[in-house]
Amino acid sequence: MWYRRFDLAITLLLLLVVMATGVTGLMADYLGIPRSVFHRYSAYSLLVLAIWHIITRWPQLCARLKSAFRGRIHRPVSAVGPAGARLPERAKSPILSRRVFLSAGIAGVAGFVLGRWLPLGRLPLQPEEVDLGLAYHQWSKPGMGGILSKPFQWGGQPPLYKEYPSAPRVALPGELQYRGLYVEEAIQKRRSIRDYSGRPLSLAQLSLLLRSAYGITEPSYPLRASPSAGALYPLEIYPVVNRVEGLASGVYHYRPADHSLDTIKEGDFRTTLLMATAGQDMVLGASVVFVITAIFQRTRWKYQERAYRYVLLEAGHLAENLYLAATSLGLGTCAIGAFFDNEVNQMVNVDGKEEAALYIVSTGSL
Ligand SMILES: Cc1cc2nc3c(=O)[nH]c(=O)nc-3n(C[C@H](O)[C@H](O)[C@H](O)COP(=O)(O)O)c2cc1C
Repeated sequence: MWYRRFDLAITLLLLLVVMATGVTGLMADYLGIPRSVFHRYSAYSLLVLAIWHIITRWPQLCARLKSAFRGRIHRPVSAVGPAGARLPERAKSPILSRRVFLSAGIAGVAGFVLGRWLPLGRLPLQPEEVDLGLAYHQWSKPGMGGILSKPFQWGGQPPLYKEYPSAPRVALPGELQYRGLYVEEAIQKRRSIRDYSGRPLSLAQLSLLLRSAYGITEPSYPLRASPSAGALYPLEIYPVVNRVEGLASGVYHYRPADHSLDTIKEGDFRTTLLMATAGQDMVLGASVVFVITAIFQRTRWKYQERAYRYVLLEAGHLAENLYLAATSLGLGTCAIGAFFDNEVNQMVNVDGKEEAALYIVSTGSL
């Protein structure tokens, strides 16, 4: 009895995992991510369950296959109704009939055709009607007509720096006596690396990464490491620390003004990151995961409808600086654009409107 229940549980689990493998595969395909640990784990579970299923059912399977090829296999008696009842013609038909093979073939071909030619993520003929990005791009083009059709007042200028007055502050090491690669070498060597050794970063390495990304490099104005339209610096960096010497795991906020960190919240956020990035497991091995957000109004008050373009461009500048600095330090880095915004915004305590996550960069030792 227990064996039958166990067998049924395995069969149900197998069906569930088949569905999960399909759904996670479609999700990874839709998000365009090279690897998702959710898909990998369900695929391995599927394999193990399928093998288990075949082993436990091996004698029946062999018997059925033998009978099937002799054209004698029929539905089990329990499936055909109460004893003595007249069986409908269909119930007498063999399980491995030609119809079954034909349906399986059609299902396989249909799956292939859907996967190969389904216009998922592809634009129909009038892209402006469905792609808000393109509509925005057209709308934000400068022109005399545009001046009259857009608002005149875009609000005031917010402060250049975000403050967390009550957050515990962590000082970062200042000038580092470090000579890395020539920029040409760093550009040549830069790659998106998703596997890390798990060795912690030093605080000095984190300091150099942050300074290279968005630190103040010309204090008299002050100007920073990445270019910014109108020197308005709309971006903020939230290092989510997994393994950095002398720093507790948690979410921090970078303060370019005095090159230090605000402690937003301590704790292990690896699972949150894994869920928020649809199972991209590089966030588990990374020593630090940088969440880059933007406070749009910092650029909007001046550049109006062009602001959103500039803010995205600037996030790219900042991330490339992180890539090159990490390469120069001998660390691995990978950009992550595929993530669930709400979960990431919630993790770094931003509202997703005034300030929202734009980009994630994972970094770790090799
Ligand atoms: C905007 C953007 C988003 C990206 N998002 C992801 C991502 O979500 N997951 C990932 O593994 N790689 C991501 N990448 C990294 C690309 O896959 C990688 O840059 C590309 O394969 C080229 O390889 P390379 O960077 O080593 O030259 C992203 C890159 C960019 C520029």
